[in-house]
Amino acid sequence: MKIIKVKDQVEGAQKGFEIFKEGLANDAKVFGLATGSSPIAFYQKVVASDLDFTECTSVNLDEYVGLPAENDQSYHYFMKENLFNKKPFAKSYVPNGLASDIPAELKRYDQVIADNPVDIQILGIGQNGHIGFNEPGSSFDSNTQEVQLTESTIKANARFFENEADVPTKAISMGIGSILKAKKIVLFAYGESKAEAIKGTVEGPQTTDVPASALQLHDDVTIIVDEAAASLLSK
Ligand code: F6R
Repeated sequence: MKIIKVKDQVEGAQKGFEIFKEGLANDAKVFGLATGSSPIAFYQKVVASDLDFTECTSVNLDEYVGLPAENDQSYHYFMKENLFNKKPFAKSYVPNGLASDIPAELKRYDQVIADNPVDIQILGIGQNGHIGFNEPGSSFDSNTQEVQLTESTIKANARFFENEADVPTKAISMGIGSILKAKKIVLFAYGESKAEAIKGTVEGPQTTDVPASALQLHDDVTIIVDEAAASLLSK
C-alpha cells in the first residue's frame, strides 16, 4: 500500500486528481466512485478542471435502500450535485435503492460491474473500517449485497439527515470482492475518527472485523490521509 500524508483535504484532492488525470491519459475508461464527505474536495477539483469524462463510464459503490433518486440524501442525488451535473459521463451507474426485487437488482449490478471493469476506484472508509457499505463481518469475496447498516454507521451518517430516525437502515453495496477487482484503488480518509480504521487497514491483520483490511490483498492501493487519520500508524 502506498500511503500519502497530506495537510488537508485540498492537498488530498490534488493528489487524487493527479491519479485520475494520469489514469485518463493512460486510457482509463471506467471510474468507480464513492459518496460521503471524504471525496467532496476531490470532486470539486475535478469539476474545476478540464478533465473530460464524456467517453467514460462511472460505477458507484452504493445506495440507500428506500430513497428515491430525487431525495436529497440519496447517493444518486449526491453524485448529480457534486459531479455528474457538471462533469457528465457517457454512462453512470448507481444501485437502485427503490428496486422492488432486491435480489434481481443485486444481480443486475454485478452484471454492470462485470461489463464495466473498474480502472480506478475511489473509496472513503467508515469509522468501523467499512468500504462501500460492507460492514464488519462482510466476506472478502462478497459480490453486490444488501446490507444492514450498523448502529455506528447510522449514527455517523445522521449528520447528513434532519433526524437520526430518517437514516435508512439498509443499503445496496458493491461487495468487497468486486471492489478488489478494480485495477487501482484510491482511498481518502480525514480526521481523528478514522485513525483506528486506518491503522487496522494498513497495519492490522487481514480480518473481516475491519473490512478495509481486505485492501492488503490488492497490489495497487493508494491511501490519502491527513495527520489525524494517520496518527495511529506506527511508521
Ligand atoms: C460512500 C461509502 C462509504 C463512505 C464512508 C465514509 O459511498 O461507500 O463507505 O465512504 O462511510 O464516509 P465519509 O467520507 O462521509 O466519512
